[in-house]
Amino acid sequence: MRNYRAAMVEPISLPSRERREAVLEEAGYNAFNVASEDVYVDLLTDSGTGTMSRDQWAALMRGDESYAGSRSFGRLEEAVADVMGFPNVVPCHQGRGAENVLYGCLVGEGDVVLNNAHFDTTRAHVANLGGDPVDCPVEGARDPNAPGDFKGNFSLDRARETVAEAGAENVPVVVLTITNNSAAGQPVSVANTREVADFARGIDATFVIDACRFAENAEFVRRREAEFTGDTVAEIAREQLSYADALVMSGKKEGLANVGGFAAVAEEPEGEAADRLFERAKQRGILYEGFPTYGGMAGRDMEAMAVGLREAVEPPYPEARLDQVAAFGDLLADAGLPVYRPVGGHAVYLDAGELFPNVAPDEFPGQTLVRELYREGGVRCVELGSFAFPGADRPELVRLALPRRTYAREHLEHVADAGAAVLDRREAVRGLEIVSEPPVPELRHFSAELRPV
Ligand code: F0G
Repeated sequence: MRNYRAAMVEPISLPSRERREAVLEEAGYNAFNVASEDVYVDLLTDSGTGTMSRDQWAALMRGDESYAGSRSFGRLEEAVADVMGFPNVVPCHQGRGAENVLYGCLVGEGDVVLNNAHFDTTRAHVANLGGDPVDCPVEGARDPNAPGDFKGNFSLDRARETVAEAGAENVPVVVLTITNNSAAGQPVSVANTREVADFARGIDATFVIDACRFAENAEFVRRREAEFTGDTVAEIAREQLSYADALVMSGKKEGLANVGGFAAVAEEPEGEAADRLFERAKQRGILYEGFPTYGGMAGRDMEAMAVGLREAVEPPYPEARLDQVAAFGDLLADAGLPVYRPVGGHAVYLDAGELFPNVAPDEFPGQTLVRELYREGGVRCVELGSFAFPGADRPELVRLALPRRTYAREHLEHVADAGAAVLDRREAVRGLEIVSEPPVPELRHFSAELRPV
């Protein structure tokens, strides 16, 4: 059931085929270089690209833009406490700002950070602080065909092995990313969350949850984890987050806002300010983000996020969200495309390696699929294979992320039709080669230019 109607419209159009061909060439076959007006269905990311509700727009109008003591920050604090159970909030301009603030207080040179899978910015922040980010995915997480209800889980075996090698004293932080963006948006069970919390406590590490997509994750738990069948998403989210010592949050995801984020810290024992994580994070926040009652956000941004956080755990949002992403997965699979299964929470991932067996990894099958979907349908998506992660041994996945509350089924059918057209002529499709790339290999997919081989 589609329990929304549109309250604001934005015209979009499909450029002609000639125009699309020209755009691809001008963009160096890199979707990040394409102007949004040349895109018909934009599935590049689910971050900051969603549609706000009437109540969020109304809340914008009461933004208190005071530098200190903003009422809007008070409302954000209350929402974080009510929805997520965390009383101590450090506002930040977006998720990566929160990562810099929090991990900057916890991670130093030579430290090892464990995570079910680091998202790109998380990995980069840990590395920037001199740390070593180690992924602990469960078996099958990277396999598009492996079954499993919670393929996003954290592998305790892998974590124990790493701690045995590195020494517990060198592992100050354990992170759980829910849902697991780097593993096809797969969910993490509450049972696994409890185990990870115990494990972190056992090695005296701070347990952080990256809660970007916490409501999607809670909806998966409601559907799949027997213990929670009769519970609400709001209850499950509180329960799952309650095990963490701290959170990092991008409000651009399930703050249902266009910008914003925060770090949050659980209740801490009284003590010296220097020993309290919240105090330290606040001080670092002042340096990098802004005074602790705005942190890089306008008052109105905080208002929109405060309302969005509450909407994220209430009907109709979580159920409609997962249903739409699942239906999109079915449309693409019915069109014959190789879909990562089960479908995740924020995106459908396609296996370009399977689609184009004739395109070698060094000719970038994923980026080739990105090019072909744009060529056929003006659809923009993102490669997460050998182009984005040079040298890594991972499947050639392409992510089609759905902005929240934004596209209708007709848009998704259009994407599936474009995919079917690509499939029809896949034998003739040739790959790409890099023409120019930036000096930092980890960031090359954002700006490198390519050409057809
Ligand atoms: N953590 C996770 C799991 C994320 O997916 C992201 C962003 C961040 C942190 C950083 O948040 O963008 O607000 O600074 N993911 C976006 C994406 C960019 O497209 O997956 P941010």
